[in-house]
Amino acid sequence: MPLGVVLFTVLAIVRCALGTYTDPSVLDACPGYHATNVATSGPNLTASLALAGEACNVYGSDIQTLSLQVTYETTTRIHVKITDADETRYEVPESVLPRPLADPSVDPSTAAIQFNYTASPFSFTIYRMSTGEALFSTASHALIFESQYLRVKTDLPKDPNLYGLGEHTETFRLPTENLTRTLWSRDAYGVGNGTNLYGNHPIYFEHRLSGTHGVFLLNSNGMDIKVVTNDEGSSLEYDVIGGVLDLYFLAGSEIDPTEVTRQYAEVVGTPAEVPYWSFGFHQCRYGYTDYVEVANVIVNYSNADIPLETMWTDIDYMYNRRIFTVDPDYFPITRMREIVNYLHDHDQHYVLMTDPAIAYAPNENYSTFDRGSAADVWLKAENGSYFLGVVWPGVTVFPDWFNPDIQDFWTNEFQLFYNPEYGIDIDGAWIDMNEPSSFCDVPCTDPFQQAIENDDPPARTTLPPAPNTPIFGDEYRKRALSKREYTGPENLLNPPYMINNAAGDLSNRTSYTTATHANGMVEYNTHNLFGTMMSTATHNAMLARRPGLRTLVVTRSTFAGAGTKVQKWLGDNLSDWEHYRNSISGILSMASVFHVPMAGADICGYGDDTTETLCARWATLGAFYPFMRNHNTIGTIDQEFYRWPTVAQAARSAIDMRYRLIDYIYTAFHQASVDGTPILNPLFYKYPQDSNTFGIDLQFLFGPSILVSPVTEENATSVSMYLPDDIFYDFNTFQPVRGNGSYVDLEVNLTSIPVHIRGGVILPLRAQSAMTTTALRQQDFEIVIAPGLDGSASGSLYLDDGVSITPNATTEVSVTYDNGAVTINGTYGYNPGVGISRIVLLNVDEPTSAALNGRDLTDSVSYDPSTKVLEITVDLPFNQNVSVQIA
Ligand SMILES: *[C@@H]1O[C@H](CO)[C@@H](O)[C@H](O)[C@H]1NC(C)=O
Ligand SMILES: *[C@@H]1O[C@H](CO)[C@@H](O)[C@H](O)[C@H]1NC(C)=O
Ligand SMILES: *[C@@H]1O[C@H](CO)[C@@H](O)[C@H](O)[C@H]1NC(C)=O
Ligand SMILES: *[C@@H]1O[C@H](CO)[C@@H](O)[C@H](O)[C@H]1NC(C)=O
Ligand SMILES: *[C@@H]1O[C@H](CO)[C@@H](O)[C@H](O)[C@H]1NC(C)=O
Ligand SMILES: *[C@@H]1O[C@H](CO)[C@@H](O)[C@H](O)[C@H]1NC(C)=O
Ligand SMILES: *[C@@H]1O[C@H](CO)[C@@H](O)[C@H](O)[C@H]1NC(C)=O
Ligand SMILES: *[C@@H]1O[C@H](CO)[C@@H](O)[C@H](O)[C@H]1NC(C)=O
Ligand SMILES: *[C@@H]1O[C@H](CO)[C@@H](O)[C@H](O)[C@H]1NC(C)=O
Repeated sequence: MPLGVVLFTVLAIVRCALGTYTDPSVLDACPGYHATNVATSGPNLTASLALAGEACNVYGSDIQTLSLQVTYETTTRIHVKITDADETRYEVPESVLPRPLADPSVDPSTAAIQFNYTASPFSFTIYRMSTGEALFSTASHALIFESQYLRVKTDLPKDPNLYGLGEHTETFRLPTENLTRTLWSRDAYGVGNGTNLYGNHPIYFEHRLSGTHGVFLLNSNGMDIKVVTNDEGSSLEYDVIGGVLDLYFLAGSEIDPTEVTRQYAEVVGTPAEVPYWSFGFHQCRYGYTDYVEVANVIVNYSNADIPLETMWTDIDYMYNRRIFTVDPDYFPITRMREIVNYLHDHDQHYVLMTDPAIAYAPNENYSTFDRGSAADVWLKAENGSYFLGVVWPGVTVFPDWFNPDIQDFWTNEFQLFYNPEYGIDIDGAWIDMNEPSSFCDVPCTDPFQQAIENDDPPARTTLPPAPNTPIFGDEYRKRALSKREYTGPENLLNPPYMINNAAGDLSNRTSYTTATHANGMVEYNTHNLFGTMMSTATHNAMLARRPGLRTLVVTRSTFAGAGTKVQKWLGDNLSDWEHYRNSISGILSMASVFHVPMAGADICGYGDDTTETLCARWATLGAFYPFMRNHNTIGTIDQEFYRWPTVAQAARSAIDMRYRLIDYIYTAFHQASVDGTPILNPLFYKYPQDSNTFGIDLQFLFGPSILVSPVTEENATSVSMYLPDDIFYDFNTFQPVRGNGSYVDLEVNLTSIPVHIRGGVILPLRAQSAMTTTALRQQDFEIVIAPGLDGSASGSLYLDDGVSITPNATTEVSVTYDNGAVTINGTYGYNPGVGISRIVLLNVDEPTSAALNGRDLTDSVSYDPSTKVLEITVDLPFNQNVSVQIA
């Protein structure tokens, strides 16, 4: 390289503590590549790419020859893959993310999106066939491909509507002015604004008035994705520190934004169905000091008439914070089993935390450590010894999820500890700290010393309860509400391009990037897969315990595709309004972009003390998260919903709505598992031509048609709710509200939340809520018909046993309403044991007659002229098609 170029390069690259900034003109001045040997065959195009000039060597050496493979995999998906022609570089293993099926017969000329290119310098464009509009174009930005630095950059329309690229706490519509999204799994206590978080989903959707499309970069290496807007326009750039450029372009559709979500599901898989009971309310906290406290909370919920479906316990139960152990004094196994039995006898459930890190405890009779050591399944340091970190129990080893024996080890540990005969019969698993998190600061040369400095594991600060303390008895109830007091290969370590990792060094407070797996892969490449691989292993272990039954495995760290196996909470948020607000963007991203739909944020906030107002509002918002769990950390004030009367009331009324809607959201989940249709919808998915909706992330649609508009400001007694040009109905009063594309102010007291039905839908509601989902399933249905502006409506209902992966019987019903005719049509394999007790029609004129399957029904009809609500009392089992005609 000429001296002048060297100097220029050195001057233009500023390496900061966090991230590397390079003047874009330096990168754009790199030579790029020439395409040669271009060959097309059926849906394929292949070419060689040769470096087109003097190497620029910005972050290492430019690779001389690359190979390009382009495949039209379906009529809506193009796969563009660029690799090093001579060497086999790391790629995300198929075992972690199986590649999607391609249709070998696709005729490129019929595809909805097209690939074209310029040979010299090589650049490519993906454009929409119908409009000719470029969706992705590298035209003015050189491709850079170095050993530890890959860059691809596209121009975009100015200030584009971009969604995805998470996990993040940005607004749902990503800020486009000067955004860096960094993907590198991190234990991100407090989920810091703008930082890299627990999970990694390198997918974005871009919405335009002319359509919505998607771009997925299948790469697990650390990366920055930068979006910049200036006077000329906007651009998006990937800066990746390894792997290959493996891009999937999804055509989406010109009309329906949800089409792209289904196309993304074709690539990463559709979400797993979850047990029906998992939609119930979950209570958790870190800092329940002993089994008596856990039992107290269960009883208190029931005394307060707040439905509690599932009780959880955090690491508190463990002996010295070692997984697969219980503390014999604070959480003795006999008392734990008593709690589980009590819960199961009351149709409730139990979940325990399992972390990946395992105490390094040679010769201490810690059988989990001994068995794993004997099987040799621990992640290894560069020199072949165990890789050691510091986590809750002190110095730890980590499971090597690529080890061929790891699944057997993990399944066996679950079988032993969570054994229904003599262990703790959990109903779901909770897996945390799987970024993986370590408390060891780089350099982690003496983890033993760092563990001592961190006081891991800490001594207990309370006395254990008397061994025979009665639980679930009367005496117990008196104690229960009393307040508790708390006491207190190349450069794998430092690659030349440093991503903007908020933890600083890549290896800081996690596994070293040099740590090596049994298959030779290094954490440098696979770090971002750790949480997803633990998820799969845990899902399999739970499945082995209860073959054939759906699992609930709630994880913190995820990679693309995780939703096919597991569920997700948004990590360690704080009890403040900022986190309350951005939880909506968080769950929208998970449920409507990343396909990890069973997602929720810790209700009332995890870190710091909550307030009554915040907790009351959060109870109502959280009732519309797909996964509803209250959880907080040790040392913060108690925040179970029954602690304050307003919060209790807010929780009761919101859970009442949620439970009546469970079958509606369960039906949406079933649809998602079939084809990837989203479970939550940002408003623009349903109003793609209304540009006011593109940035809305303080309101959302629960399922396709329930508009949730929470209060989002502290002390506010009203909410400013956007209503598109459409008709809506208040969920509680059934009164119509005509939207006209503007904001409407609503008064909202502290115990309620505005919820509206979008016109045009038919909702299958349970006629009444219940204290458990088991009791809920014994309630009849009511069919609520909310006509759209054209006077018609439709909806569906899916029923099965609620637990089986492959149910032996299902019922699928579609309901339509048009011109006074209600048609219930379906297949009736599963008998829910209840029927339909009411049909409710909103906003209709008084009929003079009503008939069911031709039989007169007029006596069963009541009509309220002031509300224009018509109710028809019926008694219909779920075994036949029905038609109701009103006139
Ligand atoms: C296209 O490429 C795929 C993957 O390399 C190959 O299996 C297939 O045979 C190719 N099709 C044609 C028509 O060349
Ligand atoms: C590729 O398609 C885009 C969009 O239609 C067009 O602007 C561009 O000129 C085309 N490039 C080539 C090399 O054909
Ligand atoms: C964009 O953000 C980067 C990193 O935060 C910062 O260094 C740079 O100055 C910003 N650029 C502009 C134009 O604001
Ligand atoms: C997070 O960032 C956004 C946008 O930069 C800003 O509006 C908001 O106030 C920030 N929140 C916190 C808690 O810093
Ligand atoms: C590692 O993280 C700790 C805690 O956040 C921080 O203080 C330290 O500066 C980091 N060290 C490096 C080398 O990044
Ligand atoms: C809400 O009210 C409380 C109590 O009056 C007050 O301390 C707090 O500052 C208020 N918050 C805002 C955002 O106005
Ligand atoms: C709060 O508002 C809801 C919905 O309008 C209403 O049903 C409830 O009675 C109100 N609660 C109080 C205490 O006023
Ligand atoms: C389906 O399974 C349930 C529970 O195992 C059983 O009671 C029922 O008879 C089965 N139904 C059919 C149609 O096989
Ligand atoms: C009822 O469903 C069956 C199949 O499930 C379908 O063939 C039929 O057309 C449907 N009828 C109506 C009126 O929707």
